[in-house]
Amino acid sequence: MSLIRPGAAADLADVAAIQAASPEAAQWPPQDYLGFDFRVCILDDRIAGFAVSRVTGPDERELLNLAVAPEFRRRGAGAGLVRSLVTGTAISVFLEVRESNRTARVFYKTLGFQEVGVRPGYYASSPESAIVMKFHSC
Ligand SMILES: CC(C)(COP(=O)(O)OP(=O)(O)OC[C@H]1O[C@@H](n2cnc3c(N)ncnc32)[C@H](O)[C@@H]1OP(=O)(O)O)[C@@H](O)C(=O)NCCC(=O)NCCS
Repeated sequence: MSLIRPGAAADLADVAAIQAASPEAAQWPPQDYLGFDFRVCILDDRIAGFAVSRVTGPDERELLNLAVAPEFRRRGAGAGLVRSLVTGTAISVFLEVRESNRTARVFYKTLGFQEVGVRPGYYASSPESAIVMKFHSC
């Protein structure tokens, strides 16, 4: 059984470990997440994954980062975190994902996201294009 709750300072060490084990994810200083909508997913009484997002306009949100610890993948934590952002409202969610991140692109499509654009050279470290994906809840 998974639980989604707001993230807190006490979670940052676990979040840093998940991020370090997830090189495909954005690698921000974890303490920065406290300034955003920061959510964690609990599985087996442990922090299994986290999502960081922000409101970018009326009924619009940007997903800034998402990662699930390798040992907890394919148990619904990622889907639960993303779905928690859209429950109950008419909302669009945008995100960028590395072109080479096939797993995440498939994952987001499974959740109803569509690929709506390409940003060439978006990622500076390990230079690569970003695929822009969009979800609309209704
Ligand atoms: C992408 C990621 C967050 C998915 O998290 P997760 O908890 O494993 O995903 P879920 O268990 O909720 O998967 C939901 C569905 O997505 C699809 N999916 C997820 N991972 C998949 C994979 N490796 N291959 C194919 N489909 C996959 C499946 O349809 C899955 O449902 P199923 O398990 O019933 O078949 C995780 O793989 C991850 O942390 N990757 C590294 C970081 C990253 O790429 N972040 C995204 C940056 S934009």
